[in-house]
Parts: sequence; structure tokens; C-alpha cells
Amino acid sequence: MIIGIDLAEVSSDNFRPISGVPCAGSNARATDEATLLRVRRGRSKRMQSRRNIILGAGAALLAPNAFAQASALQFLVVGDWGQASERQRQVANAMASVAQSNATRFVISTGDNFYPSGVGSVNDPQFRRSFEDIYAAPALQTPWYVVLGNHDYEGSPNAEIAYSSRSPRWRMPSRYWAEEMAVGAETATFYFLDTTPISRLSNAASHVPLLGAAGEAREQLQWFEQRLQADRSAWKIVVGHHPIYSSGNHGESPAVAERIRPLLETYGVQIYFNGHDHDLEHLVDRGVNYVCSGSGALARQIETVPQSRFAYPNVGFASCILGSDALALRFHDGDAAVIYEVQIARA
Ligand SMILES: [Fe+2]
Ligand SMILES: [Zn+2]
Repeated sequence: MIIGIDLAEVSSDNFRPISGVPCAGSNARATDEATLLRVRRGRSKRMQSRRNIILGAGAALLAPNAFAQASALQFLVVGDWGQASERQRQVANAMASVAQSNATRFVISTGDNFYPSGVGSVNDPQFRRSFEDIYAAPALQTPWYVVLGNHDYEGSPNAEIAYSSRSPRWRMPSRYWAEEMAVGAETATFYFLDTTPISRLSNAASHVPLLGAAGEAREQLQWFEQRLQADRSAWKIVVGHHPIYSSGNHGESPAVAERIRPLLETYGVQIYFNGHDHDLEHLVDRGVNYVCSGSGALARQIETVPQSRFAYPNVGFASCILGSDALALRFHDGDAAVIYEVQIARA
């Protein structure tokens, strides 16, 4: 359930919110941290009155607010980045400034970690060139939970798993796995999926060579459903590379949508994060939030689908504050400016 899209009431010369409006470009300009803090301070009163209008008096008092929770988990989400390019570096710098100001605990990568063809081995110089040297800021020396994308499958996915024992922050214990984390007195379970084999279940024409057979994809789906069935966590958050809904260039991945979407709906998953499309987007359908963060280095055009709440066809990343009752999602452009913000209630 979405309880309010704010920032719409905030406006200043160098901070132009474009929340809730699918757009072909942003007016938001580079915003330094001091400006962001001014904006945050300045908006609280107006935001409160806006919430009263949206929710009615009384409801506003009960509205969950992830920003207000001391035990909240802060994390960033970035995808489709491994280019060793100037634009990747720009986004990395923006991530570092946000990570520093909100005490980020970890980073999630939605895949396509190394372009154009993954890595060849655990000694591949791209680990240094496209990862270590780019995300070198102290604030980004946190765990990185990394899933595989289709481009990673053009190299060696197993080398990316093996890199977990070379790097203190790179976390990919296997091709798919789950992590439980404490959020106050509650638990959040993060499911990290390997959607490339699943995407191939109905796409025999794909040119991407596939490690493992269709049987392996079915095994993963079985594992996923069994874990979800037994999961009593307050938050269930899923990360996969391929989109289920998307206004992006690739659009939805039919086999992933067909097999994963019913599980998200049946077992009360609140959020599905993906990459693959090179944009930032928030979509909602049947109580599930779909969040694309796939423009860590590249951007592509969009054509808006009906489920879209906001889409941005340029480089950037997402930051999240997960509280026990709500998740605050923000999209940042390549200069770290907040271009969209929404609170997603747990219900
Ligand atoms: Fe990609
Ligand atoms: Zn991809």
C-alpha cells in the first residue's frame, strides 16, 4: 500500500521534484548535501499538512514513517554498472555522498555487473577496474549483495561467486540465496534470485549461453516457493535482474513474470527490485511494488506502461530506509539529487 508521494510540495530554485510523473527527463539539478538538508528541514510542516489532506486527520498520526525509526536499515540499490566509464564513476560518487549522509549499511546490485561479457575468472582485472576502483569511497566499503544478470552469464557466473572469498564486501554465496536481517523487533528476508535461467524457460531464441539446464531453473523456483511458504518475516523483499513490469526498453521478461509474479502476490512480498532496463522506475500492481534500478552507468528511453508511478530514463540509483512498518524509497539522479520519494507501508 502506498501511503503518500511527497516532495510534490517542495520547490526551490535548485530542487524540482518530479514525483509521480513519468517523464522524459529531469529538471532536478545537482544538489549538494547542504541543500538537501535545507530541503528536508523545510518540508516537514508542509509535508504533514499534505498527509492530513491525503489520509484525513487521525490516519496521518498512524501513518508509518521509516525516516522516524531509529532501528531502520539503510541501503542502496544500483544495477547494470560494470563499464569502468565516466558515467559509472559519476553515479558511484553520488552513491558515496548519499551513503555517507544516511549511514548506509549495505548495497544491493541488481546484476549486469560486468559488460559486455561478464568476467572470465576470479582474477579478471575487471573486478578491480569496474568495481574496486570505482566504488572506492569509504562509505561504500559495506557488504555488497550482488545478483547475476544476463551479461554476467556471457562470462563465468561461478567466478563472480568465487570473488566472495577474495573481497571483504562482495557477497554472492551462490547463484541464488536468502538473507534474514533484523529491523527493530521484526525480521526482513531478502531473496536474491538468479533470473537469467528462469528467463530462458520460455525464450529458446535467447543468444545468451546458459549455464545449467531448465531443470536448474525449476529447482530454484521450487526452493523459492518453499522458502516463501515457511517465511514469517514482516518484510519479504526480492531481488532479481529481469523486470516483471517495466516501461523500459526491454520491458517485462515473460517467463520471469509468469513464474515469479504469482509467488510475489500469493506470499505477500512487498517489493521486487530489478535491473536490466537502464532506468529508474517504481510500478505497483496488485499490492506488489516493482522497483527498477538499472542505470548505474547507462541510460535508455522509456515508454510508460499503466502500472508505472514514476520513471526516469537517465543514470542514477535508489536509496532505501527500511523500518519495521514502512520502507522509504528514493531515487537519486547522477548528481545525488532526490528526484522521487515514496513511503511504502508494510501491509
Ligand atoms: Fe543491462
Ligand atoms: Zn540485463
